[in-house]
Amino acid sequence: MLGGKKVVLGVTGSIAAYKAADIAGQLVRHGVEVHVVMTRAAREFISALTLETITGNPVNTEMFSGRPGAGTLAHLDLARMADLLLVAPATANVIGKVAAGLADDLLSTLVLAFRGPVLFCPAMNPGMYGNPLVQRNIEALRAAGYHFCGPETGRVACGEEGRGRLAGVEAILDRVRALVSTERDLDGSTVLVTAGPTREPLDPVRYLTNRSSGRMGYAVARAARDRGARVVLVSGPTVLPAPDGVELIPVVTAAEMAAAVKRYFPESDVLVMAAAVADYRPATVAQEKMKKGVGRLTLELVPNEDILSYAGRTKRPGQVVVGFAAETGDPRTHALEKARRKGADLMVGNDITLPGAGFDVETNEVVLVFPDGRTVPLPRMDKYQLACRLLDEIRIIRGEVSGA
Ligand SMILES: Cc1cc2nc3c(=O)[nH]c(=O)nc-3n(C[C@H](O)[C@H](O)[C@H](O)COP(=O)(O)O)c2cc1C
Repeated sequence: MLGGKKVVLGVTGSIAAYKAADIAGQLVRHGVEVHVVMTRAAREFISALTLETITGNPVNTEMFSGRPGAGTLAHLDLARMADLLLVAPATANVIGKVAAGLADDLLSTLVLAFRGPVLFCPAMNPGMYGNPLVQRNIEALRAAGYHFCGPETGRVACGEEGRGRLAGVEAILDRVRALVSTERDLDGSTVLVTAGPTREPLDPVRYLTNRSSGRMGYAVARAARDRGARVVLVSGPTVLPAPDGVELIPVVTAAEMAAAVKRYFPESDVLVMAAAVADYRPATVAQEKMKKGVGRLTLELVPNEDILSYAGRTKRPGQVVVGFAAETGDPRTHALEKARRKGADLMVGNDITLPGAGFDVETNEVVLVFPDGRTVPLPRMDKYQLACRLLDEIRIIRGEVSGA
């Protein structure tokens, strides 16, 4: 969780510097105390006043304030108090300076003095980013333990296409979350997560699928990773970026997902089946594109293997299996029946017709259903927050903490 953390946001002289306002704003919205340090070049692109107003804290710009005794140790004060130093956007210049061990302004001095995690988010012209000298500097920093997020490929401010665009604010926040997380209560555990839809081909161009976006499963994967677990994420096709620090196993069909779960389940302590696995697949897959005919077309479907039942049946003592039951209407009765029949330790039931719940939204509103009939309705919350709540329940089921 980000709330209560202290982040120093270093802003450097990139055309993307204006995006620092959004990054600072999002951090503040998540309860982070943000202190901004700007380079001289950064102030050509965005005003200190903007960042001061957004963060509610004075912006630090100069190493030598000119006033004896006032702020002359700012670099050390900031280095002592921060949980993380985020340089976003990071110019080729600041990356090069730090890689060379140089400290000629407040930000570069602070980076060298800081003992905690430093996350660079480079943003620059693709030509600059591709320059072997810049790449060498990035490699040197990575090897020294510095972290990087992005840049992304696309159209950059100067109009060129290529790799150099500042990473998206969500991706940056996700990395910050992972780096400041101190709750390592899943250290040593392996958490297997399934996410997204499956696709069941009909012919070379058509398939049956569903509306699952993968967001819930990806949130569980990120939350488990942030809490120290080794995470294996078996994902159907989604548009979501692969979370850092997670072993991603991409699959397409339910059969592929079943095979991946069987491969990793024996070495896992926890399985969270957040994927929307197709119950049925076409009985035959046409080798050629199916031609349009006259009149009706009837598809014959055959059932897919029930992966949750497989896990519930084969789990060994201590392994926890969590399933999801997406329903139209009150999910309680069905989720309880499913938990008991399939051997799940916890079912997460949601009514996908509620606003802000279910597919393709950032929030979810669920009811936890346990095989003993106990139900715990939860208020609508962010999927990451819900993921954290589920991991708390999993720890209780495993007897690692008391549920009292
Ligand atoms: C309009 C303009 C846009 C710039 N954009 C970038 C950029 O996106 N990335 C970058 O590395 N440098 C960029 N530069 C160059 C840096 O501003 C320059 O290297 C500067 O010395 C960086 O200083 P700093 O790293 O101390 O902030 C830009 C320069 C100008 C004039």
